[in-house]
Amino acid sequence: MDLPVNAEPATALAATICREIARRRTFAIISHPDAGKTTLTERILRAGGAIQLAGNVRAKGERRRTRSDWMGIERDRGISVVTSVMTFEYGGCIFNLLDTPGHEDFSEDTYRTLTAVDSAVMVIDAAKGIEDRTRKLFEICRLRDIPIVTFINKMDREAQDPFTLLDEISSALALDTAPATWPVGRAANFVGTYDLRSRSLHVPTPLEQSDPRMVQLGEDLELAEAALPEFDRDSFNAGHLTPVFFGSAMKEIGVTDLLDALVAFGPPPRDQATESRVVRADETGLTALVFKIQANMDPNHRDRMAFARICSGRLERGMRLKHVRIGKQFALHTPQFFFARDRQLAEEAFAGDVVGIPNHGTLRIGDTLTEGEDLRFTGVPYFAPEILRRVRLDDAMKAKKLRQALTELAEEGVVQLFRPQDGAPPIVGVVGTLQLDVLQARLGGEYGVAIGFESTPFSLARWVTGDRTKLDLFAAANRSAMADDIDGDPVLLASSAFMMRRTTEMNPDLAFHDIKQIG
Ligand code: G4P
Repeated sequence: MDLPVNAEPATALAATICREIARRRTFAIISHPDAGKTTLTERILRAGGAIQLAGNVRAKGERRRTRSDWMGIERDRGISVVTSVMTFEYGGCIFNLLDTPGHEDFSEDTYRTLTAVDSAVMVIDAAKGIEDRTRKLFEICRLRDIPIVTFINKMDREAQDPFTLLDEISSALALDTAPATWPVGRAANFVGTYDLRSRSLHVPTPLEQSDPRMVQLGEDLELAEAALPEFDRDSFNAGHLTPVFFGSAMKEIGVTDLLDALVAFGPPPRDQATESRVVRADETGLTALVFKIQANMDPNHRDRMAFARICSGRLERGMRLKHVRIGKQFALHTPQFFFARDRQLAEEAFAGDVVGIPNHGTLRIGDTLTEGEDLRFTGVPYFAPEILRRVRLDDAMKAKKLRQALTELAEEGVVQLFRPQDGAPPIVGVVGTLQLDVLQARLGGEYGVAIGFESTPFSLARWVTGDRTKLDLFAAANRSAMADDIDGDPVLLASSAFMMRRTTEMNPDLAFHDIKQIG
């Protein structure tokens, strides 16, 4: 039998895959607002050659309102950055940096994005230490045992003592810390770092041994080496220990320390659980998981971009995949990679890579694509909303349009949509209030539907699972508080935590969940 010219024997494909995934690094940056995530992102992209210019002037107040920090970078710096994922090469590795919008608000998108990374860089303000949002995001990483690399930023300003900072991280997060570098000089005299592993100084000009900064470094190192744990790769991979880097994103100090470390030991693509088995990253069959949908990225084309993480195998443009949820074939005509200035057709991609797949609503968050196997990845979460509102339509003629728009935006994950089982008008649920602003703006801007919000009697929602008959009986008895979510899964709505607790206690045969795992 003649083989097609470019067919690769299975062993060669396996070798290619091993080689490629060994050099993939897929990560996100987590931080509290203002710690310096945007600045660090930009410096990282620049080190990776993805951005040539770095400006320093930004319309900050306005930037806060954008849905993505990269959209802010794009507008402020006059460069074209496409949101959600940025791919760049550094040190022989291919990095995929996933954006986690860093607003004060709790954002579902951020949490879902964290399901698609292999490691996270935690940025901490050297003066402020561990802040609220960092802690929250860290907890999500911990739930998934995502390895964390810590970058203590703003060392060029008045900062806490490095030992105090390391202590704070360990005690506030119950996470072991191993300094990977040590700051040379403090505040205005901060000039560089000392690499504890290679025992080398990273400073722009050599310093005399008698220089006070070197004297302090010597004293610190003696103490650090005696008192602090050494870096242990297994503990790092298990998410129990974080290597700590000191630097200043603004002054571009310590940024390449961080990237070099990710090259050296940043975890390559991990194995991933499905409902039926674990998919190893080095398997040859292609599998991919949709973790994010973004609509209207290009205002001229009302398309939706599904962001899929390749979990195993090799993606090739044009291949036909199985869309497991709907059981149909799905032709991959135009998968795309994202770079700083443009998108590019993805001819091939490997585990760890993130590709954008344009579609018209066929793909949803949590969908699995395979070469034929019936797999469903688990672990992409929906969080129970903390705010429930009815949508008030200003122009009754637009009811149908509103229904369509809400469905589309719910599929995209902007809001959750609950249809009360008693036929009352739908209810939207969000985790943070910013999501309501985004919903209102997008309904107006993209669909031409002006709306307001009205309160509902409900303040809590829980997904209900259990034996079908018992569930039906429960739903019948609680009809006015039952709704279906976008997938038709039953949800109990309650007016207060007290009511919710009472109902759950009275129904021990059913389970009530505040997180729904899709897959
Ligand atoms: P975020 O995305 O985490 O919210 O933080 P962002 O990078 O926007 O940084 C927040 C502020 O901290 C910015 O200052 C930024 O310039 C500053 N910053 C970031 N990294 C460093 C650093 O290493 N050292 C010092 N000293 N400052 C840093 P801003 O005044 O709020 O805005 P801007 O006018 O400088 O843009």
